[in-house]
Amino acid sequence: MCGIVGYIGPKEKKEILLDGLQELEYRGYDSAGIAVIEGEKLNSFKAVGKLENLREKTKNYASDGFGVAIGHTRWATHGKPTELNAHPHLGSYSYVVHNGIIENYQELKNELLSDGVNFLSQTDTETIVHLFEKYHKEGFDPFEAFKRTIERLEGAYAILLITEAAPDTIFFAKNGSPMLIGFGEGDVYFASSDTPIIGKANEVYYLEDGEYGYVQNAAVHLFDTQGEKHFTKAPLVADKAMAQKDGYRFFMEKEIYEQSRVMGETIMGRVLENEIVLDELDASFFEDINAIKICACGTSYHSALASAYLFERLAKIRCDVEIASEFRYKYPLLTKDTLFITISQSGETADTLEALKMAKRAGLKSLSICNVDNSSIVRESDRAILTRAGIEKGVASTKAFATQTMVLWMLSLYVGQEKKTISSDVLKREIDAMLHTPKALIVEDTLHERIHRLSKRYLHGHGFFFIGRDIFYPLALEGALKLKEISYLHAEGYPAGEMKHGPIALADSELFTIALMPKTMHYDKIKSNVEELSARDATICAISPEPFDLADDFIQTQYSSHPMVEFFEMMVVTQLLALEISIRLGNDVDMPRNLAKSVTVE
Ligand code: M6R
Repeated sequence: MCGIVGYIGPKEKKEILLDGLQELEYRGYDSAGIAVIEGEKLNSFKAVGKLENLREKTKNYASDGFGVAIGHTRWATHGKPTELNAHPHLGSYSYVVHNGIIENYQELKNELLSDGVNFLSQTDTETIVHLFEKYHKEGFDPFEAFKRTIERLEGAYAILLITEAAPDTIFFAKNGSPMLIGFGEGDVYFASSDTPIIGKANEVYYLEDGEYGYVQNAAVHLFDTQGEKHFTKAPLVADKAMAQKDGYRFFMEKEIYEQSRVMGETIMGRVLENEIVLDELDASFFEDINAIKICACGTSYHSALASAYLFERLAKIRCDVEIASEFRYKYPLLTKDTLFITISQSGETADTLEALKMAKRAGLKSLSICNVDNSSIVRESDRAILTRAGIEKGVASTKAFATQTMVLWMLSLYVGQEKKTISSDVLKREIDAMLHTPKALIVEDTLHERIHRLSKRYLHGHGFFFIGRDIFYPLALEGALKLKEISYLHAEGYPAGEMKHGPIALADSELFTIALMPKTMHYDKIKSNVEELSARDATICAISPEPFDLADDFIQTQYSSHPMVEFFEMMVVTQLLALEISIRLGNDVDMPRNLAKSVTVE
């Protein structure tokens, strides 16, 4: 989703902006632009498509001396991805970049149109710059004009504005969309996340909702409803090398291979020999809790669905799961004995964040499971457990899903432990399986090679069904989502037992069924379901430790004594299958069309 970078200082600004935007590419975008003011000179450039197009357009330009600069990658919401709709948006003498959605923009636009303002774009963002100039022309100084503008906006935003009326200043505001301020040596940076400022800034301040202000030279003036406020910078600790591809063809591939290692980090210090230790929670946290509700979107929702089986089966606590965008508008019945858990890789997903705010307003205790510390969801939650997956750059989530599922599995045991609803034998069995999981996630060359070879048979057809039972049903949903995200082939996940209630009507040789057939869980049941499909000539690719005669293709996994170990092994198979099919189809695996890594709009 849209990315923002800003800079004020003496260094060359074009490269800072373009490099910063490059770091935000993973969020997804379809156009980009920059604007720079140095002295009296105002320059701006925009391009549709990838950043290379913007680089090409700016190749003969370099900034010189002290100045202010803002840049943006846009993921279209209001209006098509065109140059006119790309940010920064120009008024008469000011530029703005914005991430989020201004919900009352039509009302503001009508007001400005009746004042005779001319709009060039179809965006909600353009209203901001015209509103600012309106107040400025009415005689307010630039900061007061900016403040009055912000007061009129409804919705979510992270905004940077520069103007010839104050050429040594960047104005900023944040509400509902992420933005941080980075502090370098005599200069100041803005960005939507840490990555653009790593190696440039030494300290950081993560803006809170409702904060706004301005930076003049290198001095930051921060305000909220109470007026100007003091703030404390935090050291910026992050390792950029983590974000490189390390010789893999795509970040997604690298991230699949990393799963074994990061899983080790996820459980480190948390899964002991006979006990689960979660320092983030204290003994009283579950005292008044009798039920769990989990809200999430996409892949995170699938990890939540898998965990509901575990919470009920292992911890004996009621658990239900909802898609955040549905939960928001259903007028849910919420009781205070329910723990509200949100799951998010990015920590910025607008629907999940809003669901969390609703639950908090209803007085529920909240816990987030997230991969990004200091993200909006983490900061909004009472408690947070970090998944420790490291930066995930591929838009199609892999290691984030694996580590989310692991944290939820740990949490189910922790709840059972605290509430004394799990026996020590069962706890021990689960812990042994957990400790074995990093090994089960090692990608063997032979497995990858086999999937690579098989993938050529699955580039056509009229669709895929991924089927599974119990926890393998959410895994089937996730396998189907992964495939459709990066291959653009139609894929659905189904509970294997449901096929005969309708979907089996689609069965023929051009229907590809990816059957998750663990040996430790309902093997005979799912075998019957697959036989029904095979009898109708569906093409079957079975994933199982147990050879299966009726399968057209067979991907063998290891025999294991625990369903979760089988789950993680089969997860890797479905990820590699999606990856290899997508590569054969010539798609951009890391940046699939129409998708964004961080979905900060509703
Ligand atoms: O950052 P989040 O986990 O909250 O994101 C939720 C979904 O947008 C995300 O999982 C999406 O489905 C991914 N593209 C999956 O690969």
